[in-house]
Amino acid sequence: MAVERTLSIIKPDATARNVTGKINALFEDGGLRIVAQKRLRLTEEQAKKFYAVHAERPFYGELVAYMVSGPVVAQVLEGEDAVTRNRAIMGATNPANAADGTVRKAFGLNVQENAVHGSDSPENAAIEIRFFFSDLEVVG
Ligand code: CMP
Repeated sequence: MAVERTLSIIKPDATARNVTGKINALFEDGGLRIVAQKRLRLTEEQAKKFYAVHAERPFYGELVAYMVSGPVVAQVLEGEDAVTRNRAIMGATNPANAADGTVRKAFGLNVQENAVHGSDSPENAAIEIRFFFSDLEVVG
């Protein structure tokens, strides 16, 4: 296993309920380090660009509207096998299918308002980290 970085977003449903710290504790307890973090509000243009891969999906419009509905916390998480590790910590996309102890089981509301986003591959992680952060802002 190699030390990797992955992009995480704590989504508007979770920032609204003030559980950023509780979610961060699950990342840290799971062996990930938060090596960059910022709270921001995405513009519609930014949200559309970030989720462009889903542009043809029926939920795209709703997803973009949701992602601009409140603040998000963008983060870079670092650790052994960080992409896969973070996906295990997050749990299944749909909180109804997420295992006990995962972020989405504890904090997700439904398949859209599912508390967190995490990169799905090291290649996408590099692209998604660059979307939010410069090299100067990521401090391992
Ligand atoms: P995320 O991991 O950020 O990737 C795409 C997002 O689309 C997903 O989490 C959900 O927030 C949202 N979404 C909404 N509806 C669906 C759906 N039916 N299947 C998958 N993702 C969905």
